[in-house]
Amino acid sequence: MPFKRPLSSHTSDDESISSHDGPSSKRHILPCNIKEEKLLLVYILQAKIHPETMSELAALVENYKSERVNKSHQEPSVVSKLNIELTSHAEKADVIVTGTNMRRRLERHIDWSIAKTKAIVTPLWLRDSVTSDRPLPCGSYVAIHDIEDETSRNYDIVQDTSSSSPFRFSSGPEKETSWQTEPDEPIDATEVKSLSHNAKYSCLRSSPLVCPNQTLVNEIDIIRRGRNVEGEERSMLSYSRAISVIKAYPHVITERNFQDLRELPFLGEKLLSMIEEFLKTDRITDAQKILADPRFQSLSAFITIHGIGPHSARRLYDLGLRTLEELERYYEVRPGVSDEETMSLLDTEVSANTEDAVEKSIKIGLALRHDLSQTIPRDEVEEINRTIMRELGHVQKGCKSVIAGGYRRGKPQSNDVDIVITHADWHIGSQKVKGLCRKLVQRLYEQGFVTHVMHLSGFHKHKALRTHHWDSLEKALTVFVWPHNLSRRRVYRRVDLIFAAPEVFWTAVVGWTGSTMFQRDLRLWAKQKKGMKFDSSGISRRHDSKLYHPSTERDVFKALGLVYVHPTLRNADA
Ligand code: UTP
Ligand code: MN
Repeated sequence: MPFKRPLSSHTSDDESISSHDGPSSKRHILPCNIKEEKLLLVYILQAKIHPETMSELAALVENYKSERVNKSHQEPSVVSKLNIELTSHAEKADVIVTGTNMRRRLERHIDWSIAKTKAIVTPLWLRDSVTSDRPLPCGSYVAIHDIEDETSRNYDIVQDTSSSSPFRFSSGPEKETSWQTEPDEPIDATEVKSLSHNAKYSCLRSSPLVCPNQTLVNEIDIIRRGRNVEGEERSMLSYSRAISVIKAYPHVITERNFQDLRELPFLGEKLLSMIEEFLKTDRITDAQKILADPRFQSLSAFITIHGIGPHSARRLYDLGLRTLEELERYYEVRPGVSDEETMSLLDTEVSANTEDAVEKSIKIGLALRHDLSQTIPRDEVEEINRTIMRELGHVQKGCKSVIAGGYRRGKPQSNDVDIVITHADWHIGSQKVKGLCRKLVQRLYEQGFVTHVMHLSGFHKHKALRTHHWDSLEKALTVFVWPHNLSRRRVYRRVDLIFAAPEVFWTAVVGWTGSTMFQRDLRLWAKQKKGMKFDSSGISRRHDSKLYHPSTERDVFKALGLVYVHPTLRNADA
């Protein structure tokens, strides 16, 4: 974005962008019949913000102001709630935007006694407020944690949240903001009671993130992973099922209640004797053998790379390769990041299965493996979602998202971010989201947020008769990175973007929330018990292909004749 005024116009003792010194110097005038929203004065502390970001933020405010005035003349009834001005005097500001999170650094520029009377926030507050057309609560964007409470309180005073204003500010951004992730409802105890740990399908059981027998589950999971890397799928599935049953068992297993396990499904004699061994020794011999096996270690390391499945891992092992460093040399990946041709995936419809595309994604995965193997904390997952939805707002207004995957099941750390996106308008949404995935990825690439695309796939309608089609939503598997100019370490993250028409948004959310076994059992339940077909791209009745269009997540469960299972109780995998 071009910067409208040269930064050099500032005096040396004033590090802020100077726009206006207060309400009295306002240039833009709203039509006189419009009630003016309270003016927010914003000071941007230039010292700790990269010059490019500084220009971007200043231009953002300037453009927003003029657009706001234009709009108010055209459509006086929809004038925005954000009335914002930049000021060059920190002490006059209501909100201070800064790139630093350290009190000492801030104090070099702003007196602490003044700082404590302000709301001090990250640049994201400004970007998100502009995108949402309203001043977002500062509590979610606190820059200096020493004065977190002051930031929230001072802002509340400025905004006068106790007044009868229709926009009340809670501790997080508002619910009605269309791009916002919708928060999950609390767990309903009555619903949980009607689930049963003896049930054959995991979608009828309650499976917490961490269960009373979690160490046992972890031990059995080693054997499951061993079967997985060796391509022994039937055996792997048996272990997955056993794990999912134990995940939902609500009591600590002891030698005393051990016999009760015989009433649970999918626990055969072999599994029971393994559990018995675990109760006596805290270990399962088979699991420990697998763990110590160098072949298992190599194959397990190989499959952590996106694009390498068990089959390819074994092929690479057979070529004599044993470590990821050897794999790097084999694929001629130089340490660091190669941007080679990866974005060309945007130009053509690339199927994940073309050898070329897979090899590219393996190379990316290898080059970035040190970053991609680090887990992502929840607050960063949320920030990635906010950033992506803000960028999407520039491409298409009125979209909303739900962060799915492990995050939604309550995991404190995720391996990647899964975001399901739709348009909020039920009637026109389907048209609006068509082709949007590619456009968003292009925009994210241009803005420096997405560096690589591992896979990009197109839009196909749910085909009621096809047996396998998780591919029928628009989706992009990308590598996301925070731009250089923000005050944080640059870490590459895997982010999956899934676009769904409103009619299939909630099936997509359910599908992408997982867990894998929970999803698998939803499909099985639909097929075996309901004569229906379920997957991320839709629900249909088998005999006449009638499609169901659930308008809430609860409706998805209702359509399948199931009690609603809260996302945090869908952890049917280890
Ligand atoms: P993930 O592999 O992202 O796992 O798939 P996760 O549970 O979020 O855990 P992390 O990311 O390792 O922390 C999320 C869910 O999305 C569905 C699966 O049901 C899975 O449980 N999924 C995943 C699909 O439907 N299709 C895919 O191609 C991938
Ligand atoms: Mn995930």
